[in-house]
Amino acid sequence: MKKLPPLKFKDGKFKIMVVGDLHEGYYPKEESISKKKTADTMKLLRKAMEELEPDLVVFIGDQGKADDDAGMRAVISRITAPFVSRNVPLALVFGNHDRECELPLERQLELYAQEYENFYTYDAVPELTGCGNCNILVKDSKGKNDILNLWFADSNNLCENPNVSYYDWLHEDQIEWYKKTAQQIKEEHGGKTIPALWFMHIPVCEEYELLRQAKPHEIPDAVRGYGDRSKNFYVLKDYVEGYLGEGPACSEVNSGIFDAWKEVGDVKGAFFGHDHMNDFAGYYDGILLAQNKTASFHPYTDGCRSGVRLITLDENNVEDIQTRMYHFKQFGLKSESLGPVQRTFTDRQVMKIKAASWIAGGVAVSVAAALAAKKKKEK
Ligand SMILES: [Fe+2]
Repeated sequence: MKKLPPLKFKDGKFKIMVVGDLHEGYYPKEESISKKKTADTMKLLRKAMEELEPDLVVFIGDQGKADDDAGMRAVISRITAPFVSRNVPLALVFGNHDRECELPLERQLELYAQEYENFYTYDAVPELTGCGNCNILVKDSKGKNDILNLWFADSNNLCENPNVSYYDWLHEDQIEWYKKTAQQIKEEHGGKTIPALWFMHIPVCEEYELLRQAKPHEIPDAVRGYGDRSKNFYVLKDYVEGYLGEGPACSEVNSGIFDAWKEVGDVKGAFFGHDHMNDFAGYYDGILLAQNKTASFHPYTDGCRSGVRLITLDENNVEDIQTRMYHFKQFGLKSESLGPVQRTFTDRQVMKIKAASWIAGGVAVSVAAALAAKKKKEK
């Protein structure tokens, strides 16, 4: 692994831009609509770079796929293009869809390191479940002391037994590695716990603690839960900021990582992708849980509300996490790939409009049929 300079705060601040679910490279034919979707995504990333000037970019999983080195190099060069000119440090975690190609994750990691000069993710212990589990320490503005730690974990793919859970979860060996490494870091820093952030693709089950079950009159604006929770409808609790567009699709088995964070005491905030339409953030039991909406226009998305999340930390109080989403629409950008309806409404609003028009259509057909029957009878 090449030696990179340590990450450090600049003028007292450290800004991380989290980029979710790019899903690039699925479109071998390069149809014009795919080109337009990529163009919109790049427009967003370039604008975000200009406006937000992050010190680190984190891809939060489902970056893209290709079946050979050349294809993956093309995908990587496309999705990192907005960051090359400033040579911004880049890190990532893998998502479930990054496995849907011929190239193993280990090879993808090598290619990222070859294609992007300032690439920080590494596979700390190759024997561990998953790929790219690692941590990166960040120094203060003087470059002297480590004052922040960043954890990157692979939330794996699908569960081997779909009767247990659709999605897999963080395995026991990964949690043990985290606890052991956190202890080592503490010992190396004179017994001091370094505050940390956690980045992972699939959210933890505790995200549901930020939601509450919808009252009957709220159901039209609520989302259906995922998996075991699909009989219930949810809305965000009052104190939670952001947008709930779908039921969090976490594993139905709780890995225990949230309890491990509490036990170790270093993780102050955890950041997730996977659910393309969710971008809420709120505290549960003292830890910030924050969702990243997709930054792309390729997968199922939320119209012009695709966006990036910025995390801003101050070196005088690293535990005070300032974070918010920046949406395509808020940047004043114009989409080439979306039609007028998608430009105006969220996907959920579009679904509701369609459902209402189907119901209205159904009612109209029934009324017409009833009238026709009545008329026939009267003849
Ligand atoms: Fe995704």
